[in-house]
Amino acid sequence: MSNLIVGIIGAGAMGSGIAQVAAQAGWNVILIDQSQEALEKSADQLAKVCHRLIEKDRLTAQTSKAMQERILRSTNLSLLAPCSMVIEAIIENIDVKQTVFSSVENVVSTECILATNTSSLSVTGLASKLEHPERLLGLHFFNPAPLMQLVEVIPAMQTDLDLVKRCTAWMTAWGKVPVLAKDTPGFIVNRLARPFYGEALRIVEEELATPAQVDAAMKGVGFRMGPFELMDLIGNDVNYAVTVSVFEAFYYDPRYRPSLIQKKYVEAGWLGRKTGRGYYRYEAGLAPSPITEATEDLHWIHQRIVAMLINEAADALSLRIASAQDLELAMTRGVNYPKGLLAWANEWGIPAVLDQLQTLHHRYGEDRYRPAPMLRDLAENKLQFDLGAS
Ligand code: NAI
Repeated sequence: MSNLIVGIIGAGAMGSGIAQVAAQAGWNVILIDQSQEALEKSADQLAKVCHRLIEKDRLTAQTSKAMQERILRSTNLSLLAPCSMVIEAIIENIDVKQTVFSSVENVVSTECILATNTSSLSVTGLASKLEHPERLLGLHFFNPAPLMQLVEVIPAMQTDLDLVKRCTAWMTAWGKVPVLAKDTPGFIVNRLARPFYGEALRIVEEELATPAQVDAAMKGVGFRMGPFELMDLIGNDVNYAVTVSVFEAFYYDPRYRPSLIQKKYVEAGWLGRKTGRGYYRYEAGLAPSPITEATEDLHWIHQRIVAMLINEAADALSLRIASAQDLELAMTRGVNYPKGLLAWANEWGIPAVLDQLQTLHHRYGEDRYRPAPMLRDLAENKLQFDLGAS
């Protein structure tokens, strides 16, 4: 058992999940929230999860008790004093996060590492207001944190790179798969995944196919959920907000332009499962049953969307956002893609991917479809993406 203590601020969906991960790995956890109610709800939910795991024989009653006892919950931030690391998972607002980090800095020792679970804010911007900006980095977990293996490790411009090594080792010890990402909009997953939604929405906007047909086509090539089912699950409001933030952060690059259809769904209050209606209807708690088998004539759909996803990955690789191996791990472990996008490109054939993009570019004349230079280079030289030894 570890005698290290991690502080986690925010006992919502993410903070509670991260607390469970750390406690399962033997760390002592101090979970802080400004709301006593949120803390109680978090404790109740963990008790329920443990109960289910015990019933399924995946956890013993003794381990469950010890794990739950390792989590101390409080509204009092000053309890964080003995922590080796504090992870922040509160509301996605830079001012609130900066204020909380300043309060934390007043309490913890100078050796304490600070981490943010932000999905969309600049880690560099967050660090800038700290007394010791070199001690902050991003540790971006995925929802639900106990089940999703990926953690994006994101050093800010100011970060002491020794922290990256330590946190990467800690995340591995917590049973996670850490990948190193540059502090750029959307980091890896939220950047590379944009066309999964954006291109699907574009196809439906043009009435070339229905949401059910697009979902069927994508599930037909191994995605666990189609884009529309997934947007309904995430919530159209949440998904739209991420797209808008990535679009703005990239200075309105048309490749990331949000969809007017999705905006209309948000305006209508058709947010997805949580409102009973999104691209599908979820009446009386019944999940919809979209077509699950892709038929031959739906192949163009997945080819168009996957080509756009590959283009995004190729662009991220050209810009050194992450290594090829980490880009692949991010999509397979963070959002359960059936295979890495670069491996997919190699399998499909780089010239075929390039041809797909050039056809779209020619047809629409939009910058959105411009092929990544790396795809052209590889095609010209009859090469493939180098995915290393893994
Ligand atoms: P949430 O809304 O479920 O929980 C946030 C919690 O923070 C609430 O319990 C709230 O009472 C507490 N809180 C807010 N301000 C506080 C303050 N000043 N001091 C102490 N506690 C405070 O939010 P969620 O979904 O857990 O997200 C948290 C963070 O994680 C955000 O930065 C979000 O962008 C990020 N994130 C969310 C993911 C998701 O799928 N929900 C995935 C990855 C990252």
